[in-house]
Amino acid sequence: MTTQSATNARQMERNRMRAVMNNIILHLHPTRVPVSALRWTYTWGLGGMSALLVVILISTGILLMFRYDASVERAYTSIQYLETQVMFGSMLRAIHHWSANLLLITVFLHMLRVFFTGSYRGGHATNWIVGIVLLLLVLSFNFTGYLLPWDQLAYWAVTVATSLIGYLPVIGGPLTTFLLGGPEVGQATLRNFYAIHVAVLPAIMILVMSYHFWRIRKDGDISQPERKEKVAKVTTIPYLVQIELAAAAALLAGIALWAMFLPAPLEALANPAHPPNPAKAAWYFLGFQELLLHMHPLAAVMLPSFILLGLALIPFWDRRDEDIGVYFRSRVGKKVAAAASVLGVLLPIALVLLDEFWVDFPAWFPSLPTIVSNGLIPLLLTLAGLAAIYVALKAVFKANRSEATLGLGTFLFVSLMVLTVIGIFFRGSNMALIWPW
Ligand code: HEM
Repeated sequence: MTTQSATNARQMERNRMRAVMNNIILHLHPTRVPVSALRWTYTWGLGGMSALLVVILISTGILLMFRYDASVERAYTSIQYLETQVMFGSMLRAIHHWSANLLLITVFLHMLRVFFTGSYRGGHATNWIVGIVLLLLVLSFNFTGYLLPWDQLAYWAVTVATSLIGYLPVIGGPLTTFLLGGPEVGQATLRNFYAIHVAVLPAIMILVMSYHFWRIRKDGDISQPERKEKVAKVTTIPYLVQIELAAAAALLAGIALWAMFLPAPLEALANPAHPPNPAKAAWYFLGFQELLLHMHPLAAVMLPSFILLGLALIPFWDRRDEDIGVYFRSRVGKKVAAAASVLGVLLPIALVLLDEFWVDFPAWFPSLPTIVSNGLIPLLLTLAGLAAIYVALKAVFKANRSEATLGLGTFLFVSLMVLTVIGIFFRGSNMALIWPW
């Protein structure tokens, strides 16, 4: 082949690759986007970051599978071997571990962004519900992955959490039996969790995520604040894509650096005879574990289930077609969200302290079974309290239904964060309240 024809062939190959790449990009984005879409302070790139983290997790997960051994006798030592004998093994595991934790945060913040901008409205209801499925998938990924190192942290966090699942009405019993594969966390559980973690969940995740992306295009792309004036548009390639590539490079570099200096934790080998004190769930479940300290387990499981159901139904409750894509809806909305945030910090702290030192329903109503005194009563009181907060926000700020919904949601999100912080830092031996500093 002459030099000229070789150069032409290379050029044609390059053009073909570029056409394929552009095609992929333009399946995910429209060909032209409003200039305002280049501002990253609207979405904060959180959806894209979550997608990139999923890709990182799947790639590093596949590499980890080459060394990991899902057996009770060898799981822990296979991780030790990976950490100490395999080149870049420790870093690989750290990237997987920290990306999984970061994904929980970016998905949660992405959901908050969608919620605060009211972007579940305007025809995006289906994608909101699909998003909730994605959130549950991300939680399930973290939960099943948590057990795999088979260290003390893994064993006991999963023992605590699976004991809770048993309290779910109807499906609780069969689901626990299915997950554990026996009466307690053991070999069958490890094998189940491994299969779910590396095969079942990734397959569902890829399908649901693809549907989420397809739906964004189908719904007419992401919501944007409505503008009266004509908006200038630019082509997606290169203007939007170069920003996304730069953000992706920054995220990759950040995770690599972080993983280089902070290895993933590995505690002592799991010992079913010696629970650590306190036996805490993983950090992202500590808000729920906090509920357990105050309510009968059935109520502690039912409350988040109701809230999740309510979250899924929000687009059918708040159907207002104004202020879509506007952070906090309006001036009133901003005030409502600010008041709800303050309440979300103060009220859970006050209730935790009250319950720790004063409230004692089982002692006050000794004739009632504890499922009523410590379950039904606190559950109904909490639900009534949430309804009262909604009504009060509406009345005090003369808020419309959308603004009041924003307030109630903000209260719940902030409360969850406060309960999680209490669980992480302020619970010590026997889960008693402590002052950590
Ligand atoms: C693995 C998890 C997820 C990934 C990878 C993901 C990815 C994305 C991406 C890339 C977008 C485009 C806009 C943006 O970047 O913000 C988006 C939009 C959207 N997402 Fe997600 N998402 C996930 C989870 C969720 C969750 C948990 C929810 C809500 C419960 C949600 C609801 C939505 C909705 C309603 C839109 C359209 C928003 C709009 O029109 O502004 N997503 N998602």
